[in-house]
Amino acid sequence: AVTAVIVVAAGSGERLGYGMPKAQVPLGGETILMHALRGVVASDVARQVCIAVPKGDTALRALIAEFTVDLVDGGPEISVVDGGTSRADSVRAALAVLEDGTEFVLVHDAARALAPERIFERVSEALAAGAKAVIPTLPVVDTIKTVAETDGADASIAPEVVTGTAPREQLRAVQTPQGFELATLVRAHEAAGLFDEKQAAAVTDDAMLVELLGVPVHAVRGASQSLKITTPLDLIIAEGLLEGPLG
Ligand code: CTP
Ligand code: MG
Repeated sequence: AVTAVIVVAAGSGERLGYGMPKAQVPLGGETILMHALRGVVASDVARQVCIAVPKGDTALRALIAEFTVDLVDGGPEISVVDGGTSRADSVRAALAVLEDGTEFVLVHDAARALAPERIFERVSEALAAGAKAVIPTLPVVDTIKTVAETDGADASIAPEVVTGTAPREQLRAVQTPQGFELATLVRAHEAAGLFDEKQAAAVTDDAMLVELLGVPVHAVRGASQSLKITTPLDLIIAEGLLEGPLG
């Protein structure tokens, strides 16, 4: 089956706080984006890799051009698009340029720079086995509670009050790459295009849009190296992984 991988790298990296797009931040002497792209290419699942970069970016585009030149014959077609304001907008921009005949698409966060190639393969295998949507997940280690803002007299005690405890054995932390039948993901994103501002802001991954269509989303095991580099602590962990068992 013809598979494309979308790498979303158009975020600004506010929480990492480097004053540059997160994909451009150094990790182990390279950029976060280069690590992510190497994982994608090493897995050999994609005929096309489409990368969404921040609108107006030139630095990442230059890095991608260099990476493309160095690819051996038979490697994937690399394309670049301007990302959008939200992650979902960036995914939609990339979906719009996928080649005709693409059957499956994997959507991957550049921020999950160290996602191992076996996860791309695992997700692709589930698609080949008939899944229309598949996500890599890990069990949750923390107890997760829902909270609400406190009001009235209790507000002077603490800002939030617990409204419930989710059963931990049923919870999973969700990673990327997330894999989809292309037609299903396109339909899911078309539906999301009609969301109001509040609904749009609540979209944190692609699978939730597919869930809203009523299409089953399958879960395979993810990897702890696939952590999303979000905060300075995550970057320290990623550096440590490169120096240790992965490096
Ligand atoms: N992303 C994107 N386009 C956006 C927002 C995010 O392509 N408009 C991408 C990011 O580049 C990242 C992934 O989506 O690879 C996950 O987003 P996140 O970890 O939130 O990255 P940033 O948005 O860059 O970080 P922050 O929210 O701290 O600014
Ligand atoms: Mg973000």
